[in-house]
Amino acid sequence: MSLKTLALTTLAACAALPATLSAQERAFRLGLITPPVHVWNEEARALGETLSEMSDGRLSVTTFPSGQLGSESAMLQQLQTGALDMAWLTTAEVTTRVPDMSALHAPFLVDDIADAAKVLRSEEAREILDRLPRATGTVGLCYAMTGMRQLMTKEPVESAEDLAGMRFRITPAPPIRSFFEMLGAAPAPMPLTQVYDGLANGQIDAIDMDHESIINFGYHDHVTHMLETNHHLFGMVALVSGRVWAQLSDEDKALLQDASQQHCDRTIDRFVAKEADKLETLKSVEGLTITEDVDPAFFGDVVERWDAVWAEQTPYVQRLRELVATF
Ligand code: BEZ
Repeated sequence: MSLKTLALTTLAACAALPATLSAQERAFRLGLITPPVHVWNEEARALGETLSEMSDGRLSVTTFPSGQLGSESAMLQQLQTGALDMAWLTTAEVTTRVPDMSALHAPFLVDDIADAAKVLRSEEAREILDRLPRATGTVGLCYAMTGMRQLMTKEPVESAEDLAGMRFRITPAPPIRSFFEMLGAAPAPMPLTQVYDGLANGQIDAIDMDHESIINFGYHDHVTHMLETNHHLFGMVALVSGRVWAQLSDEDKALLQDASQQHCDRTIDRFVAKEADKLETLKSVEGLTITEDVDPAFFGDVVERWDAVWAEQTPYVQRLRELVATF
């Protein structure tokens, strides 16, 4: 082929590009820190099926569970560069870049998981997603959640003073760290994938965790006391790389948004429906002592102290407290 013919062929191919892109086949790579049995993973796989049906097989999703692609922080970086297409990450991880999201982790923001669902479906929470493109290079499509968080310890806890000095595994996130520091504990940020071993080898004494993960990983093998505190909600945010998003046609953006919203909603509904059953499952675990319905007053004035610090960082602390007061 002469140089001239090659140039003409290339030009013709480029002219045809927009049409080709709009009908592009695409397999999105989606990373999660949670294991294949987790509800998030089940719904992420179901998202792939929904997307495939909606696009007549053109779009699909391949999930990478259990932090196969690295920690949540590593996945967030990969989304930013476009090395990863999508991830379902904890809202906790996003607080490191978007201080407004810390308000979702305000201690005792909600009484129960049904109210947690209302917060995550609120206009206020959706507004926070608008901060993501600039702060993280990602687009936040929707929220979901895992269950409310509880405290599990190796030693029995009779009062908040007993938490002093305990090495508490937390999800790496400044607002969660603050809460445990204010209780006098020694927070140990650690990815979910390292928690079981951290307990087994004595690196940590206690964990901040939800029913689903406790059951999935069997943490009660090593922490046999649980305080049913429901002390904060634990959100998930479905993210798409901003670079990948920019390459999609409007039609494909709408498909991805719609399919993701369906599975975020299903995830929320499944957690709300099964939270009480999961507590019953835990109650039947031999050797696990559960103190139910621990009142926020057990933790003294930690809510006021936390709010005083974090309301300086973001107006959403006050806005979400005001919203919850209307429920
Ligand atoms: C955690 O870091 O504790 C966690 C992360 C994702 C789902 C559940 C728990």
